[in-house]
Amino acid sequence: MRIDIITVLPELLEGFLNESILGRAQKKGLVEIHVHNLRDYSTNRWRRVDDYPFGGFAGMVMQCEPIDRCISQLKSERHYDEIIYTSPDGEQFDQPMANTLSLKENIIILCGHYKGIDHRIREQLITKEVSIGDYVLTGGELAAAVMTDAIVRIVPGVIGDEQSALNDCFQDNLLAAPMYSRPKEYVGVDGKSWGSVPEILLSGHEAKIKEWEIAQSLERTRQLRPDLLEK
Ligand code: ADE
Repeated sequence: MRIDIITVLPELLEGFLNESILGRAQKKGLVEIHVHNLRDYSTNRWRRVDDYPFGGFAGMVMQCEPIDRCISQLKSERHYDEIIYTSPDGEQFDQPMANTLSLKENIIILCGHYKGIDHRIREQLITKEVSIGDYVLTGGELAAAVMTDAIVRIVPGVIGDEQSALNDCFQDNLLAAPMYSRPKEYVGVDGKSWGSVPEILLSGHEAKIKEWEIAQSLERTRQLRPDLLEK
């Protein structure tokens, strides 16, 4: 799969996207992530991409032309399944949306900034508007990073143990069961015991462990996110 991200702050994303699991996924050729500096598509002498809004409103608006030029260029090179605009008034991003997007071949994510983008871009070019939560960020870059991370990590082969992505929180609308590692018993810095690992996990009995995992998942979901069980 290929993700093209259009932004006025490419440096903000490049470090993040080239590290750790996302960096390795690209090196392995499982995904291609390209970051485009919107200013490269400005015809303005000072590489401006925004202007004052008509109507005397406050703030600045991202203009049609640079975005049109950038997206037209990309569309002339390949077909895009989705052209996403990050915006607090978009559809709420969640695990099912990440799953769906991870099956796409090519997607564009346009990061919003300032007061937003000229509405005609939304009408003419954008196929999906996505929010990562009910709060307003200074720009869409963090939203693009969050989405890219959630999408790429479930592309087959990106996470070593493919099964582990399926057991994540929110796959099947259940929170994940608690996890433990060595030591079996831990004594805190203050000398008090933090308890020991549940016996069943040390039993080696696969079926019983699976049963325990499901029961724990259900119990945690019931306690912490009962709304998910209604789904
Ligand atoms: N841009 C600003 N706030 C945002 C949000 N909550 N989600 C997506 N993009 C945004």
